[in-house]
Amino acid sequence: MINLPDLKPEIVSGKRILLRVDVDVPFENGQIIDDTRLKESLETLKYLLDHNAAVFMTGHLGRPEGKDEKLSLKPIANWFLRELQIAQNELQITNIEGFDSFKLSDSLYLLENIRFYKEEEENNSEFAKKLASLADIYVNDAFAVSHREHASVVGVVKLLPHFAGFRLIKEIETLGEVLENPQRPLVVIIGGAKIETKLPLVERMHELADYLLVGGKIAEETNILSGVQHEKIKDRNSVLLVADLNEDETDTTQKSVENFLQFINLAKTIIWNGPIGKIYNSEKDKEGTTAKLAKGIAQSSAFKVVGGGDTLGLLRELNLLDKFSFVSTGGGAMLEFLSGEKLPGIEALMEVSK
Ligand code: 3PG
Repeated sequence: MINLPDLKPEIVSGKRILLRVDVDVPFENGQIIDDTRLKESLETLKYLLDHNAAVFMTGHLGRPEGKDEKLSLKPIANWFLRELQIAQNELQITNIEGFDSFKLSDSLYLLENIRFYKEEEENNSEFAKKLASLADIYVNDAFAVSHREHASVVGVVKLLPHFAGFRLIKEIETLGEVLENPQRPLVVIIGGAKIETKLPLVERMHELADYLLVGGKIAEETNILSGVQHEKIKDRNSVLLVADLNEDETDTTQKSVENFLQFINLAKTIIWNGPIGKIYNSEKDKEGTTAKLAKGIAQSSAFKVVGGGDTLGLLRELNLLDKFSFVSTGGGAMLEFLSGEKLPGIEALMEVSK
């Protein structure tokens, strides 16, 4: 059981807080497609504001290469303005250059996309110092990025008294229980496009799951996957199934989805991250392969865990989100945690504050 330092009124009251939030939401034409991650950040944020803390929020959106206006956090700032019902001048969006003072009376700031600064992903120590200098304490409520060794996730933690936000604790507690004692058969479904993040996880999940089903972009890595398929797993018969592509290579075949559903029907625990194909076929009313899979999982009576920005977005669109036992805000982070990996952001939080 992981014990994280949690928030208490006497810790946060009247303090300046650097809050790492999870604002990496699915985004299309400047519109937020799914705001689950933002909604999940509200409990901690409101708690801090209710205890007269001044909050400097920081988070990322997408994977920008330098400053890219299309990935600005302005729409995110507007979302918070609406949800918190505060006036425009009560939440200021800022850049880090020239930003040195942060007064208690200012109450709420949002730093522009932190990945606009290359120092974030480099975990640059000067950059971490600059961030840390803005606040009295640090709070991580961004589970979805806790698998990244970045300045705002790991670097600052070493420099400030640090705590976990409510959402982060909920993730660790619930996923921790699944990891320690999953009801078997355990079926894990991995899809989506972040190949470099997910491919190493296929191997680890192969050891953990009874049935591992792989689809989407990652299923095109046939050489690597067939190598994993032939690995002998100690003490367990683990099956790895890779979805086939249809003739024009634009989607998973119907046969593969039907095959996947047969294993899903056997499951007592299901873990799912990433679409395996289309949500809709060309006409909007026709069920695509991912929609078919989603409906099949939703009908199962297993304990069902789902995570990842795009996956949550499509489940909301299909009105199926409430059919899941636990909706994780993490995608890659959820899979890494459930594969038994230690997440650098969580490990850092467990180190005693200086
Ligand atoms: C996610 O969406 O999984 C997190 O925001 C992490 O994003 P990354 O894979 O770009 O680091």
